[in-house]
Amino acid sequence: MNVIESRDGELLLLQLANPPVNGLSFALRQALFEALERADADPGIAAVLIHGGPKAFSGGADIREFGQPQALAQPNLPALCARLDAMSKPVVAAIAGLALGGGLELALSCHYRLVVGDAQIGLPEVNLGLLPGAGGTQRFPRAVGLGLALEMVPSGQLRRAADLARQPDQHLFDRVCTADALLQAATDLARQVAAHRPLPRLRDRTAAPAPEALEAAEARCAALPYPAPLACVRALRGAVELPFDEGVAAERAGFQTLLTSPESAALRHAFFAERAAGKVPGIEADTPRRRLQQVGVLGAGTMGSGIATACLMGGLQVVLVEPDAAALARGVAALEKHVQAQVDKGRLSAERAQGLRANLNTSQSDAALADCDLIIEAVFEDMALKQSVFRRLDALAKPEALLATNTSTLNVDEIAAVTQRPHQVLGLHFFSPAAVMKLLEVVRGAATAPDVLASALAFGKQIGKTCVVAGVCDGFIGNRMIDRYLEQALFLLDEGCSPAQVDRAIEAWGFAMGPFRMIDLAGNDVSWRIRQQRAKDGTLRRAQVLADRLCELGRFGQKSGGGWYDYEGREAKPSKAVAALLQAHREQIGVQARSVSDAEIVDRLLLSLAVEGERLLAEGVALRASDIDLVYLSGYGFPRWKGGPMFEAQARGAEAVAARRREFAAVAHDDPAFWGGV
Ligand code: NAI
Repeated sequence: MNVIESRDGELLLLQLANPPVNGLSFALRQALFEALERADADPGIAAVLIHGGPKAFSGGADIREFGQPQALAQPNLPALCARLDAMSKPVVAAIAGLALGGGLELALSCHYRLVVGDAQIGLPEVNLGLLPGAGGTQRFPRAVGLGLALEMVPSGQLRRAADLARQPDQHLFDRVCTADALLQAATDLARQVAAHRPLPRLRDRTAAPAPEALEAAEARCAALPYPAPLACVRALRGAVELPFDEGVAAERAGFQTLLTSPESAALRHAFFAERAAGKVPGIEADTPRRRLQQVGVLGAGTMGSGIATACLMGGLQVVLVEPDAAALARGVAALEKHVQAQVDKGRLSAERAQGLRANLNTSQSDAALADCDLIIEAVFEDMALKQSVFRRLDALAKPEALLATNTSTLNVDEIAAVTQRPHQVLGLHFFSPAAVMKLLEVVRGAATAPDVLASALAFGKQIGKTCVVAGVCDGFIGNRMIDRYLEQALFLLDEGCSPAQVDRAIEAWGFAMGPFRMIDLAGNDVSWRIRQQRAKDGTLRRAQVLADRLCELGRFGQKSGGGWYDYEGREAKPSKAVAALLQAHREQIGVQARSVSDAEIVDRLLLSLAVEGERLLAEGVALRASDIDLVYLSGYGFPRWKGGPMFEAQARGAEAVAARRREFAAVAHDDPAFWGGV
């Protein structure tokens, strides 16, 4: 039962009923189509009211049907909208919760629309590399004007219904109601307009033009590296330049083209990767979640301060502990700067900011952490220190409290082992800057209990992070792969590339930032110190002579005014000192510089990620390939429209990847063992 029918005198009420968001499944479309046909033919019915209950009018296409034949089976959404156009009786849409994508297109095809003020409204198809394909690009500009449609559709922006209803000369909503009054108001309106003719159809209106906005949007979207936003603009242009039916036909053609585009496939993969990541073996819907209301953060350095900020912004109570008074003051100042910036940018009201600040307590003594439900440790990266900290935390924290470490390289199991509660210990690996970066690797130790992991995932979600579960290994998912990628970047320098050539090639491919600009930003000294420590411990995988030399020159990166580049502020300039360093290094290792193509640079970097990703899967560190993709999309600036390193390699095909690996294994100064095994 996807559509619940009921009668109220001459009124037919149709309630969409396909939880959770009334996705427009084949069964729902068919039931609605048939109900409309019957209503049109039934002389006892004077008007029709469509609603979706209190939670959602409709969230659009049913994602469970994505890629399945049912998604496009007749009646498809365009056919349903055309059926509404052909109705001889008024149809009223009553919208609560949300009307998105196809859900909004359905509502736009009705004759009247009532809405609850806080309902979310938008056509976000562009986020999946598509355009609204059921008349949305033709009816929406006719409802709100081309200018606003150009702002919302190519960007996939959602707006509150009340804000849209305030627009001058809008025909989107006939009335804004409270949630309680919606159905009654819709029923009253349906009765009142039952005999009104002609029926007001958006298709019969003209859209208010906006020539300057159109030109600007076209220029902006033409510069983007993926086609959907520009296709949205072109389809919207049709709303002012073409008769309605021709505009719809052009929109449909654009939709079909995008549907088969690699970018849309990648974006849909990313969308499903986000949903899949929450499914973790051992965690069920009924696995108990602990309420983690009060969070303690130990260490107020770069990470501790950022983690405390993220928790505060997520509405949690935070106790920030740092023994060093100056470091504590710096940490609190950084936190305050972030909160104030949100206020200045209009993302946070001054009042709410005050409320958040009141949720922060600070102390120089770890005794202040005794009541916390979750304590996140972010002290220096040193096993002996972390173990001593965890012994203390175990003794002072309440018995049910969870203990988490933000370590990026140390073994979480060895840290958990010093406590009496290893089942309540896990890694929460944030990325810098922690208040901004979406990615959170949730590291499951050998002893971590399912309910602890489930609670940590719920915590991550509450503070707005994209959580990916990882097993224990050096670097977890993201950093273990990035190490191999950076190794390749250094091999490329050995062989004749400049840092700028490597960065340019991978940035042109779509990465937000190439490897050398990235490490200059993070600080070359960080990995240098890790290498030194590993050399001492005998755990260094591979010496990186060139990177060591750079650090020996004091070239740590942006913060020291020079790294792989020279810096004026944030601007990276090719460095003569680095060019000389490279030349001397090549002479020393006996390499004749060769010309390396951009295609080779890109493939070696990308496939280094995919090859290490395969190993992580084989070892069980990552649960699924799409989790690895999600790590790279949300934490490393991998272009979303390329889907992630695993998706990208899979799209090339196993044979093509294997052939490329054999080529790279034969490059003199690369690492044949790394590329090998194929
Ligand atoms: P940091 O050096 O900026 O801050 C560490 C802070 O811990 C200092 O303020 C220090 O005074 C404090 N501290 C030291 N011993 C302490 C103790 N016994 N009790 C309480 N506080 C103590 O270091 P950062 O960068 O914040 O790193 C912290 C942890 O986060 C490390 O384990 C690091 O590997 C990890 N991490 C760092 C990332 C980064 O990009 N910086 C990214 C992800 C993880």
